[in-house]
Amino acid sequence: MLRFGILSTAKIGRELVVPALQDAENCVVRAVASRDLGRAQAFADRFAIPHVFGSYQAMLDSDEIDAVYIPLPTSQHVEWSIKAADAGKHVLCEKPIALHAGAIGELIEARERNGVLISEAFMVTYAPVWRKVRELLNSGAIGTLKHVQGCFSYFNRDPDNMRNKPDLGGGGLPDIGVYPTITTRFVTSKEALRVQASTERDPQFGTDIYSSVRADFGSFELSFYIATQLAARQLMVFHGTEGFIEVKSPFNADRWGPEEIELTNQNHAHSQIFRFQDSRQYKCQVEAFARAAGGAMEEHVTLESSLHNQQVIDAIYRASEHEGWETV
Ligand SMILES: NC(=O)c1ccc[n+]([C@@H]2O[C@H](COP(=O)([O-])OP(=O)(O)OC[C@H]3O[C@@H](n4cnc5c(N)ncnc54)[C@H](OP(=O)(O)O)[C@@H]3O)[C@@H](O)[C@H]2O)c1
Repeated sequence: MLRFGILSTAKIGRELVVPALQDAENCVVRAVASRDLGRAQAFADRFAIPHVFGSYQAMLDSDEIDAVYIPLPTSQHVEWSIKAADAGKHVLCEKPIALHAGAIGELIEARERNGVLISEAFMVTYAPVWRKVRELLNSGAIGTLKHVQGCFSYFNRDPDNMRNKPDLGGGGLPDIGVYPTITTRFVTSKEALRVQASTERDPQFGTDIYSSVRADFGSFELSFYIATQLAARQLMVFHGTEGFIEVKSPFNADRWGPEEIELTNQNHAHSQIFRFQDSRQYKCQVEAFARAAGGAMEEHVTLESSLHNQQVIDAIYRASEHEGWETV
């Protein structure tokens, strides 16, 4: 059993990842830390967690845990991932693990220095839905892939929310622009070479709230838009010479539509639906992470993959400053 400590009382931990850790067959939640001891205690009471800390560092220094899950505001991910690694803990850190590709080099150094696992929590790459999309593409189910289309939007104008605060790493691209990118890279094993983009910022918050992106992957193109002040919608479509695959509710499985893939063949002559009810992507994620931390040859999100993903996001910001292509 990999013994986890939870760094903060964040919503994503409360609602999805701690329940997944407690559901997992090879993980146990042993501790929680908060900037406020009372908040940590309330969190511990709710989930029956035995150890409580009123500072993040105190939990990292504890022998009660082997690994940390970090769902801090995005601007603090690199700092606390390095501190956790230096304390000898394995690190599962929320996405995006960094705000600039350059910082991922520091994480790689911390990983090498301490011999621990550091992995970005891209739960979609562990989801049975996305593993099936990859299998279908690899088996030639849609022929030659030519175009990927994606969208991810929600409406959030709460000035207190981390996503609307630049100093906490807010913005649509760090929050959700990472998803069309990671899923396309994951299922195709290809990297974006160059991007074109336009981005709009909120005049009050200063954060990016809408981006339209075109990414050239060489043999195919990915085009997507993301928005933080639009009605909630999410969809990914992979279009090839012999058919296309639509992934419904692709990122928040089962929240904005059924958890399913529809494969449609040439001329709509034949269509197949694959359903994945209750596929529990967060549980799949933490179980795979625990196996990898235990030394198993387990597929997981490496920092090298995170580096490529972040290079795409960095290039999108640069491309938004001018017309034409920007090299990734
Ligand atoms: N993979 C996914 O599906 C998914 C979904 C949602 C979010 N996320 C990621 O998870 C991270 C957290 O998101 P969230 O929405 O759960 O955040 P949140 O509820 O705002 O929680 C962030 C936590 O960080 C701690 N914190 C430390 N310094 C802070 C500061 N200056 N201001 C505010 N909080 C501070 C707080 O815990 P204490 O007060 O207890 O110390 C707070 O509860 C983000 O990086 C986000 O991108 C991932």
